[in-house]
Amino acid sequence: MIRNKTLSKTYKLFTLRTQESIRNGYRDYATPQGAKPFESIPGLSSLPIIGPLHHFIPVIGSFGKEDLFDVVGVLHKRFGPIVKMEGVLARANMVFLFEPEHIDQVYRAQEVNPLRPGFETLEYFREVIKKGSLDGIYGLMTAQGEKWRDFRTKVNPALLKIKLVKVYAPALDEIAHDIVERIKKIKDETTYLETNFVNEINKWSLESVAFVALGSRMGCITDELTEDHPARKLMQCGKDIIETAFSIEFLPNPWKYISTPGYRKIMRTYETQWEISRQYIDAARKRIEQRGHDIPEEDKSIVEKLLAIDERVAILMGNEMLMAGIDTVAFTATNMLYQLAVNPEKQQKLREEIRSDVPHKRYMRACLKEALRLWHVVPSNLRRTDRDHVVGGYHIPPGVDVVAPNEYLSKLEKYYPRGKEYIPERWLVDKTDPLYYGNAPPMITLPFGFGIRSCIGRRIAEIEIELFMKRMIDTFEISWEGPPIKVVNKLTNAFVPPYNFRFKMAK
Ligand code: HEM
Repeated sequence: MIRNKTLSKTYKLFTLRTQESIRNGYRDYATPQGAKPFESIPGLSSLPIIGPLHHFIPVIGSFGKEDLFDVVGVLHKRFGPIVKMEGVLARANMVFLFEPEHIDQVYRAQEVNPLRPGFETLEYFREVIKKGSLDGIYGLMTAQGEKWRDFRTKVNPALLKIKLVKVYAPALDEIAHDIVERIKKIKDETTYLETNFVNEINKWSLESVAFVALGSRMGCITDELTEDHPARKLMQCGKDIIETAFSIEFLPNPWKYISTPGYRKIMRTYETQWEISRQYIDAARKRIEQRGHDIPEEDKSIVEKLLAIDERVAILMGNEMLMAGIDTVAFTATNMLYQLAVNPEKQQKLREEIRSDVPHKRYMRACLKEALRLWHVVPSNLRRTDRDHVVGGYHIPPGVDVVAPNEYLSKLEKYYPRGKEYIPERWLVDKTDPLYYGNAPPMITLPFGFGIRSCIGRRIAEIEIELFMKRMIDTFEISWEGPPIKVVNKLTNAFVPPYNFRFKMAK
C-alpha cells in the first residue's frame, strides 16, 4: 500500500523540521586553514548510492560474517586512528575516532548542543502522529537542540535530585525478592532456562522500571500472564520496538515513502505502549488526589514530581523509561551474573562482602563497573557535529556522526592490562598497581554515555542491579556449563541463547 500524498508531504515537513532543529544549534565557524579535507580521511571506498555497503556483502565484501565489534577492530587496524565511513542510503557520513583525546575534543565541544540522532520512527510517531496531543513536549530520546534541552531541564530535577534509595529501595528490594523466589522454583528446569532465562530477567527489569516509571507494581513475575495482561503487552512492545526499529531504521527500508508492514507494526506498538502508560499515569494521578494532603518533597516519587510539571510530561517520560530501562538493565544484570558464574572466586568474594556488615559495598560496585567495561550495553557512543572540527589534522564538517567505539577501546591492553579478563579489583587498587583503572583516560569507558546528555536512568539502573545481585548471590551459587556465552550486536548488545547457568542453593 502506497502512503498517501499527505503522509509523504507530512514526512517531508517533519524531516525539514528535524534538520532545522539540528541546524539551530549550528554556529558558523570558519574551517581553519591548513586542515586536510574531510574526503581525505582514510576509510572504506564508496560506490554511488550504496556507499560502502558492498564491503559487507558476503563473498565479494571484505567483512562477511563479522559482527559490529570485529568490524570496528578491522577498521582500526586497517585505517588507523580516524576512519571515515560514507553515509549509506541518505544516512549521515560517519567518522570513527580511536584516540581518547580526539573523542574528548569533539564530544566536549558538542556539549553546547549534544546531538544524538536515532529513533526516527519514534520521532515520527511523536512529532507527526501525536502532534495534536504533544505540542511543545518532545522527550529525550528523539529530540535535539532546544527541544531536547527544554525537556531535559524539566525532568532532570525529578529524576536526578530525588533521594532514589530512600524512595525506591524498599519496593525494588521486594521485586528482587520475588524474582529470586521464582528462580528458586524453576532453577532445576534446565532446558526451560537455557532458552528462557532472558525472559525471566526481563520480567524482573520490567517490573522494576515500571514501578519507577508508572508508580505501580505490574505483576509480571509469575508463571502465566494472560494475553491481554498489560505487563505481557509491555514486554511484547519492548521486544517489537527493538526488533522492528533495527530492521526498518538501520537496514534499508522505504518506510518514509510507503507504508511498509514494519512501519505499521512499529506505529501500532508505540500506540499500545503510549496507551498503557497513559492509563497507569492516570491511576497514579488519581491516587495522589485521593491522598488529599501534600507530603515532604523528599518522599515524593518520580511520577508525582513529573505530574506536578504536566501530565503529558509524566506519560512521555514514563514511556521513555520503559523503552530505555528494560533490556539495558536485563542485559547488564545477565552480563554480571555470567562474569561471576565463570569467575567463582570473585563470586565468593562478593558473597562475603554481601554477608558482612561493611556499610559500603565497594566490591559490588567494582563487579558492576567491570562487567560494564567488558560489555557496554551500547558499544559505541555517538554525537552528530553541528560545527567544524579539526581532528588529528582532518576537517570534520557539521552533520557528521562521530562514533566513539568505547567497548572496543575498553578491551585494549594499552588502556587496561589483561583487558579481556574480568578483574573487579582494578576499580579498587591504588595508583601504584599497574591494574589501576585510572591509568585509562576517562573517555575510554563510557557505558552510560557522556556529559549532559548521558543516561538519565543511571542511578535507577545501579540501584535495581545492586539489590538484585545482593539477593541472587546471597541465595545461589551460580555456575556456567559449556562454551562461553555469545553476544550479538544490533546497535545494542544482546546475548544469544543457550543460557547455561546452573543455580545451587548457596551455603
Ligand atoms: C545498565 C543500564 C543502562 C545503560 C548501560 C544505559 C546506557 C545509556 C546510554 C549509553 C545512553 C546514551 C547517552 C549519551 O548519548 O551520552 C543512555 C541514554 C538514556 N537512558 Fe540509559 N542506560 C541504562 C538504563 C537506563 C534506565 C533504567 C533508564 C530509565 C529509567 C534509562 C533512560 C535513558 C534515557 C531516557 C536516555 C536518553 C537521555 C538523553 O538523551 O537525554 N536508561 N543510556
